[in-house]
Amino acid sequence: MSAYANRPLLYVSQHHDAMLCRLLAQRGWKISFASNLHDLNALPHGAQPVAALLDLHCGFSDAELESFEPWLSQPQIGWIAIIAGRDALTDAARRLLGLYFIDYYTAPFEPADLAHSLGHAQGMAQMRPGVQRAVAGTSRADGMIGNCSAMQTLFRGIEKVSRWDTPVLISGESGTGKELAAQAIHRASERAQKPFVAVNCAAIPPTLLMSELFGYERGAFTGATKRKPGRIEMAQGGTLFLDEIGDMPLESQTSLLRFLETGRIERLGGTESVEVDVRIISATHVDLEAAIAAERFRGDLYHRLCVLRVRQPPLRERGSDILLIAEHVLEGVRKQSPARIRGFSPMALRAIQQHNWPGNVRELINRIRHAAAMCEDGVIQPADLELAAPAEERPQTLAAIREAAEQHAIVEALQRHHERLIDVAAELGISRVTLFRLMRDYKLQVRKSDVGLVCVQG
Ligand SMILES: Nc1ncnc2c1ncn2[C@@H]1O[C@H](COP(=O)(O)OP(=O)(O)O)[C@@H](O)[C@H]1O
Ligand SMILES: [Mg+2]
Repeated sequence: MSAYANRPLLYVSQHHDAMLCRLLAQRGWKISFASNLHDLNALPHGAQPVAALLDLHCGFSDAELESFEPWLSQPQIGWIAIIAGRDALTDAARRLLGLYFIDYYTAPFEPADLAHSLGHAQGMAQMRPGVQRAVAGTSRADGMIGNCSAMQTLFRGIEKVSRWDTPVLISGESGTGKELAAQAIHRASERAQKPFVAVNCAAIPPTLLMSELFGYERGAFTGATKRKPGRIEMAQGGTLFLDEIGDMPLESQTSLLRFLETGRIERLGGTESVEVDVRIISATHVDLEAAIAAERFRGDLYHRLCVLRVRQPPLRERGSDILLIAEHVLEGVRKQSPARIRGFSPMALRAIQQHNWPGNVRELINRIRHAAAMCEDGVIQPADLELAAPAEERPQTLAAIREAAEQHAIVEALQRHHERLIDVAAELGISRVTLFRLMRDYKLQVRKSDVGLVCVQG
């Protein structure tokens, strides 16, 4: 029994069959119930389902069924359907059943039989290529991989901020997954069914940014032959993701601030103002507080954007997650590769762990793609990744081991307490003065702009 206890099961239906759930719970299934896509996306991230039940006989529309496709297509979940009868299936339902389901039951059915099949569905899903690894490494629906405490803190932060309809600022180095996080927040929010529109403020020339954001009326400037809505308007009802907000020119900052204060925009060359309801998520790799001090960024805009804050940890702070992500990336590359790729050599794995990853996950992906093309005999070596061969591991002194453990404990406690130093010192049983000294010795900095998740203001 114990091997079968607490198996996460997803139950998607428009009505909750309590009797069925009781029986399934007795068989060791831990059930998460969802009646629409929004519920699915809001499920806690810890419990990755291994099997799932979709009740098709209770009136989902085709559009709703199709919105479940990102979930149906996850190879690590074995899906079983309940249907009213084959004749009652729409084309859309038929297509999804054929593509993604291991079995179906026609109502009325014997619940014990269904429970039995769910166990098989779990087993079958685990035999799909690549799944064992994904199950071991908690790959989430939004594509973010991470088991370390820094990533768990991030996932909890994402979950919390998605419940609020206030602006969020995501800070973190380039390539750490800020855009993925923004999408995850959107998908878990009330606005999930509405558009997610991304604007990269650094990639659009400053002269074009205003018209991109606010749109224009016909004749607003030479070449404006017809009205064009801006990206803010295109995100109506949904989320506007302002990437690299730190690179936004001051002129656009002023207009953006006006929009945030009034909830209205004016297209360039226009006279009427249009009401737009969007949630702003912004991201930056620059230290905005320093930019404010240097008068490159407006302080009042900063306070509007940064009601909630999420910090993406750099890859080098994620411990063995680096290897999990590397394996996951290689799995993807393998599928596209014309040659057979067997994997990383032990030296390559050590080199990956020792590299500092200034370009974070993006750099890791690029190096692996490059290595997959360059490697010989299907085994990736450090040189294929263009990484230095790993340093020899020398026996460590007791003092070095103690220091490393001490440093590790402080970093973990800082993350756990969102870098509130009083709580960190209390947990570690040291005075704040000692904590400051240790942080100085280990070169650990807490910058105000880098705290994990801060409070909600007004
Ligand atoms: N935790 C993660 N697990 C797997 N892939 C990730 C993770 N974080 C980022 N990525 C991938 O890394 C790349 C860079 O992420 P992105 O969100 O564009 O970073 P940023 O916006 O911070 O520069 C993307 O291809 C993204 O899918
Ligand atoms: Mg980005």
